[in-house]
Amino acid sequence: MNRLTLIPAVEGLHRHASQAAFVAAAAEDIARRLGDAIDQRGSALMALAGGKTPEPVYRRLATLALPWAEATATLTDERFVPPASELSNAGLLARSLFTGAARASAFLPLWSEAATVEAAADAADQRLAALGEPFDLVVLGMGDDGHTASLFPHTPELVAGLDPTSSRKVIAIAPHAPAPKEPRLSLTLPAILDARAILILITGDAKLQVLQTALAGEDAHAMPIRAVLRQTRTPVVIHWSPEA
Ligand code: 6PG
Repeated sequence: MNRLTLIPAVEGLHRHASQAAFVAAAAEDIARRLGDAIDQRGSALMALAGGKTPEPVYRRLATLALPWAEATATLTDERFVPPASELSNAGLLARSLFTGAARASAFLPLWSEAATVEAAADAADQRLAALGEPFDLVVLGMGDDGHTASLFPHTPELVAGLDPTSSRKVIAIAPHAPAPKEPRLSLTLPAILDARAILILITGDAKLQVLQTALAGEDAHAMPIRAVLRQTRTPVVIHWSPEA
């Protein structure tokens, strides 16, 4: 594990030699944290990223022995589409994680039938607020533009999304050029940081460069991932490997 130039929250960057090693190590890291939470507190609560990178990790995680009935998963963000849509992150979890033994875990969706993405965000915000406890684990991805969850660079929603004093856990994200192309629901920074640990899962040389650029700067509106990397409240571990 290489220690990054000291950003307080980042405990380290695990550079895996292959995508297979990345998948195994990330899944085992998640499973260990879930198991510890269940051992210590009787339950585990996690918020999971969507996108392509984590899917093989979720598939591997689903094969690991855990008291899955004591685990609850939600999402770090969601597209404003029903689960049957190919864009849906809930659909991603359904086909990758909620298979085999992991089907016993509970799922708290962000999307729900609503006339507007704002109404869906309000409902999701209330659902997560009702949990009344921190996440044991938040798993994030990162886009090539430095976005994370659905907090995208230079979007007006970042004012609310990155506000450290906000009591909101979920906000609505409107489509913007160049991204996101569809309305979304996203955890806010305070919701992401209300966790015992954060894992960032990234692959490929391009994203490693993006990470280094993010670490070298401070403007979180330019690269929202910086808000996670530069905070000192929640420990962050990064798993990286070359592309598959
Ligand atoms: C989403 C994710 C998003 C993702 C990044 C990276 O809903 O798309 O939550 O934040 O983590 O876009 O996506 P890839 O893993 O597909 O590169």
